[in-house]
Amino acid sequence: DAPRLVDPFLRPVTYLRLSVTDRCDFRCTYCMSEHMTFLPKKDLLSLEELDRICTAFIGLGVKKLRITGGEPLVRRGIMEFFRAMSRHLDSGALNELTLTTNGSQLHRFADELYACGVRRVNVSLDTLDEEKFAKITRWGRLPQVLRGIEAAQKAGLRVKINAVAVKDFNQSELFDLVSFCAERDMDLTFIEVMPMGDMDEVARLGQYWSLTDLRNELATRYTLTDLGDNTGGPARYMRLEETGQKIGLIQPLSHNFCESCNRVRMSCTGQLYTCLGHDGMTDLRAPLRENDDDAHLIEAIHAAIARKPKGHDFDYSRQSVAGQTQRHMSHTGG
Ligand code: GTP
Ligand code: 5AD
Ligand code: SF4
Repeated sequence: DAPRLVDPFLRPVTYLRLSVTDRCDFRCTYCMSEHMTFLPKKDLLSLEELDRICTAFIGLGVKKLRITGGEPLVRRGIMEFFRAMSRHLDSGALNELTLTTNGSQLHRFADELYACGVRRVNVSLDTLDEEKFAKITRWGRLPQVLRGIEAAQKAGLRVKINAVAVKDFNQSELFDLVSFCAERDMDLTFIEVMPMGDMDEVARLGQYWSLTDLRNELATRYTLTDLGDNTGGPARYMRLEETGQKIGLIQPLSHNFCESCNRVRMSCTGQLYTCLGHDGMTDLRAPLRENDDDAHLIEAIHAAIARKPKGHDFDYSRQSVAGQTQRHMSHTGG
């Protein structure tokens, strides 16, 4: 049996987030710049290469695989890849196969995703206002996403909504978003906007809506019970007693959760990032392409995990965005 993946701080790595494309049919303002140029197709790992890498990670003890992008469902042939990965669910090697999506293509793929063993999807939805939705995504159509969410639920998938908390943008919609999710039995997670990509610092700070404030606002209308933060993920959950629903807060900036980090990220070009907040990465494409057997690949994975940083340095508290990385979220998949 190959040795499991444990980093220098004794954190077992059991969760791989895999970006399968940097392309997206939206251009969310906090995620991409408007005139983002996409990578040449030849730089992308093929579906077979993605399979080899995931299979290697699963062999090393990864139990949870989340497919991200860009928008994963715009990658051609992606269902083939999901189908291939479902064999690891069948064998029991993998506990969960899931994806994070903008929802735009979900109506087309929901049934097939379920058939491939996917049981939960995370859908990004920051606003329920059509005009505002078109603005933050730069041209996305809200009804299409709502249709996707409905199709996903009909197919039997549990849906979690991710909303990036943006000051003066969706602040006024807090209770609407909560009710929308309560009515549809969906969990809802708010995410603090993170300093990624090429937006300037002033614009970043202007967008920052502290989730501590958000929580206080929720408490004016609901009874909140903290559910602790032992979920293994970045979100701290609470229950709204009046609706019974679960609300998560992801606060990388004000509540660093790095001590319990269990994850690494693979970009669509085969770079392994062991921390969202660091630019340091390990290229896995070369060892993959240069060798038919996986020994070099596995060695490179071990070497990367041995260098996993202790945590990120995102920090808004000094009124500057320390630790800003120029890397786009669409490259590493959030
Ligand atoms: P589940 O807990 O399985 O629902 O998934 P998740 O919350 O890990 O996945 P999702 O794709 O919904 O992630 C939501 C967002 O949380 C990501 O897009 C990131 O913005 C943020 N996030 C996830 N993991 C990390 C992390 O390790 N560090 C930081 N700073 N942010 C993270
Ligand atoms: N800060 C916080 N969340 C972000 N996302 C994309 N860019 C950022 C950012 N700068 C979110 C998306 C999606 C998830 C994958 O990451 O809204 O829900
Ligand atoms: Fe696309 Fe998601 Fe980035 Fe929006 S946040 S541009 S939907 S990848």
